[in-house]
Amino acid sequence: MYTGSGTDLDLARHFLDLNELVAIPTETVYGLAGNGLEPKAILKIFQAKNRPFFDPLILHCKSLEQASSMATEFPAVLRDLAEKFWPGPLTILLPKNDRVPDLITSGQDGVALRVPAHPLTLALLQKLDYPLAAPSANPFGYISPTTAAHVLQQLTGKLAYVLDGGACEVGLESTIVGLEADQLVVYRKGGLSIEELKAQVPASIQIKVIEHSSSRPESPGQLQSHYAPSKKLILTEDLKSSLPSSVHPETTGLLLFGDPLGLHTEHFALTLNLSPSGDLKEAATHLFSFMRRLDDHPQISLILAQKLPDHGLGLAINDRLRRASA
Ligand code: TXA
Ligand code: MG
Repeated sequence: MYTGSGTDLDLARHFLDLNELVAIPTETVYGLAGNGLEPKAILKIFQAKNRPFFDPLILHCKSLEQASSMATEFPAVLRDLAEKFWPGPLTILLPKNDRVPDLITSGQDGVALRVPAHPLTLALLQKLDYPLAAPSANPFGYISPTTAAHVLQQLTGKLAYVLDGGACEVGLESTIVGLEADQLVVYRKGGLSIEELKAQVPASIQIKVIEHSSSRPESPGQLQSHYAPSKKLILTEDLKSSLPSSVHPETTGLLLFGDPLGLHTEHFALTLNLSPSGDLKEAATHLFSFMRRLDDHPQISLILAQKLPDHGLGLAINDRLRRASA
C-alpha cells in the first residue's frame, strides 16, 4: 500500500483518516503514526513493527490542551514541565481517561503524551482532530530511524506514506517522565537531559532516574536488548587502552567520540566519530545513523564503541550503546 514519500500534508491526512499508517518526522526520531483514537489503526502499528502488545505507545498531540484532554489530571509539576519543554523531546505519563483506547497503554492506567517539535508534523497535527499514536518507525528491537531513508529500509510495504522532514535534529528518543508519590520518575533517559529537567523542577521534588536493567520493566522502553544492531557491539570505557587482543581490525568497525588519541584507526574496516570535538549534542544526532552504517557494512563483524562521558546527553547515549551491546 506504500505510495511514496514527500511533504504532502493533505495526502498524509487522507491516509490517516482511512486508518492507514504514515511515518512522521519528529525532532527525536521518526515515528510510525496512526489515528491514536482508532483501535484499527493502532493494531496496524503493532503488526507493522512486530511489537508485543504489552509495550504501550506514545500519543503525539498538537498542543498542551489536546494532551490534557486525554488525561483525568495534570499535576502542576508535570504541567510546568510541559509548558517549559513542549513542543520538545519530553514525554509525560498521565492517568488516562476513557477517550484513550486501552490498546495504546497496553491496559495500564497511564498514557504517555508528548507534543513533538517538528514543523511538518505539527502542521499535520493541526489538520487532524485526533492525536497520533506513534512508536519509533523501526521493527521492534532495532535501531530507531533518524531519516526517511531509514524508515523505508525496513518498513516499506507496511505503511502508506512517509512524511519526509529531513534528518532528525535531536536524534535520541524523548525523555519519559511521570510522578509517583511526589517523586519525579525518569523512566527513559532521552533527548532532554536530566540536568535540563532538574533545573525546572522545584527543589522539594526528588528526581528518581530508573536504570534500564530489568527484563520485566514497568516502562518497556527499559527492555535490555532494545536498539540492537544485528552485529556484535562491545562498549568500552577507553578504546585505546583496552582494545581486546582478539580483535581483527580489518573486520572491526569503530564508533568513536572525541579525539582518537593515537589509535591506529586506519587499520579498521570503518571508523566513525560521533563528534571529533567532543560535543554531546552533535554525537546524539549521529548516533543511530552511524550505528546503522556500521551494522550495514559488509566487511564488519564486530563494532567497538567508545563510552561517552556520563553527563548531559552522554547519559542517554551510553544507555542506548549499553543496550545495543546486551
Ligand atoms: O521520541 C520518541 O519518544 C519517539 C518519537 C516517535 O516520538 N517515540 C518512541 O516511541 O520512542 P517508542 O514506542 O519507540 O518508545 C516509547 C516508550 C516505549 O518503550 C513504551 O514502553 C513507553 O514509551 N511508554 C509508552 N506508553 C507508556 C505507558 N502508558 N506507560 C509506561 N510506558 C509507556
Ligand atoms: Mg522505539
